[in-house]
Amino acid sequence: MPHVIPYSPRPLQWQFHEERKRFCVLLCHRRFGKTVAAVNDLIRQALISGREDWRAAYAAPFQGQAKAVAWDYCKRFAGVIPGSRFLESELVCILPTGGRIRLLGTENAPALRGLYLDDLVLDEPADMPRQVWTQVFRPMLADRLGRALFCGTPQGTDNLLYDVWQQAGADTEGLWSRFRFPASQTGYLPQSELAAARLSMDEAEYQQEFECSFAAAVRGSYYAPLMDTADREGRIIPLPHAPELPVHTAWDLGMDDATSIWFFQVEPSGHWRFVDYYEASGEGLAHYAHVLAQKARPAGQPALEGTSEGGIAGRGFTYGTHLAPHDIRVRELGTGQSRWESAAQLGIRFTLAPALSLADGIDAVRRRLPRCWFDASFCAAGIKALRAYRRQWRPGQQAAGSGPLHDWTSHAADALRYAATGFRPPQDTQGGQRRAKTHYDVFGGS
Ligand SMILES: Nc1ncnc2c1ncn2[C@@H]1O[C@H](COP(=O)(O)OP(=O)(O)OP(=O)(O)O)[C@@H](O)[C@H]1O
Ligand SMILES: [Mg+2]
Repeated sequence: MPHVIPYSPRPLQWQFHEERKRFCVLLCHRRFGKTVAAVNDLIRQALISGREDWRAAYAAPFQGQAKAVAWDYCKRFAGVIPGSRFLESELVCILPTGGRIRLLGTENAPALRGLYLDDLVLDEPADMPRQVWTQVFRPMLADRLGRALFCGTPQGTDNLLYDVWQQAGADTEGLWSRFRFPASQTGYLPQSELAAARLSMDEAEYQQEFECSFAAAVRGSYYAPLMDTADREGRIIPLPHAPELPVHTAWDLGMDDATSIWFFQVEPSGHWRFVDYYEASGEGLAHYAHVLAQKARPAGQPALEGTSEGGIAGRGFTYGTHLAPHDIRVRELGTGQSRWESAAQLGIRFTLAPALSLADGIDAVRRRLPRCWFDASFCAAGIKALRAYRRQWRPGQQAAGSGPLHDWTSHAADALRYAATGFRPPQDTQGGQRRAKTHYDVFGGS
């Protein structure tokens, strides 16, 4: 008796299954059924390919996400095939043909280097670092001429999804196909539901999520979609400071320019809590050392009066690592002293963030942001800058110029980059005690 996979493709899913080429971009509105279609496309290929040791990967931006969105679908659709097995701890589905589908997050992708793939799904590639495709997955497809499917909803134009969408559009060799299915055309979501969603979102968001618009996000924005996601997921909220955790700081130290400081805590789970943000310009290092000391005073104490720092309330911070860009070790003309040395004299011993390229730094921030929480009011100025941080845009030019625009948004974005690239969790169990002592030495003792 034939076993029937409980999946009847919707007409446009069917069109995708039938017409896709070796490389395919499936650009759809939210809840279209991308993930269901992608998983079924893999299962079908496993059964019909006839290849020995057929191997496939389904990757989401994070492993937890892959498990949450696709593992149940795998079990539901492949589970009816007699002889299929599921290795729960490895997230591997083994089909009776011997073919294997492995679920993973792109954070684990480098572990696959050296293996081959016959088939690949990248689900929501707008949230993946580009190199995951170009350096890890694409080479894995080479010897077996493996297939790749990119399925997602747009998030502006500065990411992998847009890149492959463009590439598919430019393909002249018949290797790529691409599909764009906005909600106004699919009819898969009820009109009433779309109207309700439209009311609760701003128009740009609606155009992006339901009408597959790339242009809807802030033009050339680096972090706006991730910040929007943080907002939608309830990660920009009144966030209390956790007194048991040290507060780390990450600085973009301007010379005559603005200086920005993020204050953040790292939970054992790996989630980062941004509890405060400070920026000023035209001030010397002593000013910022004083700001840190003010915030280290017990919470609830009013701001000291009669000081130039009036308005900075005590928050009870106990400091951990202070991060700054590597170039603060450069000796300055005039004083002959580096800012690193000047800060050390004020009791702030900076840890230097590695000298990475801007692009790598931005990638690091993008990978980090989905696991960040922000205090909505203390961090408001920083959040605003992060949303608006964007690429240069030259008049009359179709594509954005390379590199970010240097303006008021750069300092908050740069400081966050040093946090994302420079922070290393302490390895030793004594870390907490040592940090507390540092705090005492810095702001209490001298
Ligand atoms: N062919 C189908 N028949 C019936 N229901 C379907 C079909 N395809 C998808 N669905 C249902 O539609 C819903 C959305 O499916 P899926 O998770 O694949 O969407 P998605 O486009 O990946 O959504 P998201 O944008 O949230 O990632 C699920 O409840 C799924 O079970
Ligand atoms: Mg999905």
